[in-house]
Amino acid sequence: MTPLPGPIDSDGISVAEAGSEAPPVGQALNHRLRQLHQQLMELTPDVDRMAVALYDPEVDLLKTFVSSTRTGEAISGYEFHLSKSQSLSHLAKSRSVRVLDNIPAAVEANTKHSAWLLKEGYRSSLTIPLFDKGSFIGLLFFDSLKRAAFTESVQRKLSLIASMINMLISSELNLVYSIRASVQVAREFANLRDFETGAHLQRMAHYARLIARELQQSHGLSDEYIEHLYLFAPLHDIGKIGIPDRILLKPGPLDPEEHKLMETHVQKGLEIVEKMVGEFGLEDLPDSAVMKNVVAGHHEKLDGSGYPKGLRGEAIPLEARIIAVADVFDALSSHRHYKQAWSMDAALTELDRMVAAGQFDADCVAAVRRRRDAVEAIRDRFQDG
Ligand SMILES: [Fe+2]
Ligand SMILES: [Fe+2]
Repeated sequence: MTPLPGPIDSDGISVAEAGSEAPPVGQALNHRLRQLHQQLMELTPDVDRMAVALYDPEVDLLKTFVSSTRTGEAISGYEFHLSKSQSLSHLAKSRSVRVLDNIPAAVEANTKHSAWLLKEGYRSSLTIPLFDKGSFIGLLFFDSLKRAAFTESVQRKLSLIASMINMLISSELNLVYSIRASVQVAREFANLRDFETGAHLQRMAHYARLIARELQQSHGLSDEYIEHLYLFAPLHDIGKIGIPDRILLKPGPLDPEEHKLMETHVQKGLEIVEKMVGEFGLEDLPDSAVMKNVVAGHHEKLDGSGYPKGLRGEAIPLEARIIAVADVFDALSSHRHYKQAWSMDAALTELDRMVAAGQFDADCVAAVRRRRDAVEAIRDRFQDG
């Protein structure tokens, strides 16, 4: 068996802390999972941990997403190629569940995760594949500190909660995907493809995710937050739908008047996002605040020289600071109709200059520098076609 390895963080809020008050940004689904866990423990007291990992078929990655642990530390910020684990790939293909009655006997402490499992004292586990409309979307893990806790009768009790969690996860993903799909349609109508390519959106979303991953430990970010940031990143310029073509597609530089008009794309974008949130009934979509902040804050600058609000420093939400760096970095390092692509060195130097000028978040830019290899891989992978 190959478990999900990964580093340990301090995200393991114990179940007892999960009350009914509004969850913090980036934690809504975690919060619901903890509530379910609490109910579950009355039924089957031996389930000490529940966790969901999401599967991204495009890159064959299984990524930690949400979890609830009764005691000890949670695990997050980990991703790994599903195809590298025979036993987990088998679960996805065969749609069967896996029971491990004796983890220490089945697992060697040869990965960070198996070492973690053993250190936390987990002795048995039940792993269930999750599906949405027939497609594999992830894995649900139940773990117990007791050996052989997942008897037939416990499995029967867990089957209901497993299908509830499956529904919870797939309905949330579907909401996010519906929003993205409707934005896609709107973009097609609005000729935006001439202006900003799909490859730009893919690259900047991946850059944003990479930066957030780098900041995960130092800024205490949840996997859920990072996943949502990645999914919402391509919406940042949705307001350009409302900008007239003569400005949007103007080959030369904009005059001050035109610039003012162009800047209204932020407010227009926010209106679109708020309308979608209303129309899709997403008021309580986990992280709709992240979506709004991405759109509303991506042109703000730390020194207050940005727009539309001229917010300063920490008043600009982290997700907006990340998107700003990811977006500008891609604009610099890729070809646009008005400029050639800058070299990686030149683009990084420009980001440093903007940090020194007090405009960009130094941690975000340092993250891009630190992960230069991964950044180059993203750039090369999603080319304008
Ligand atoms: Fe923008
Ligand atoms: Fe952009």
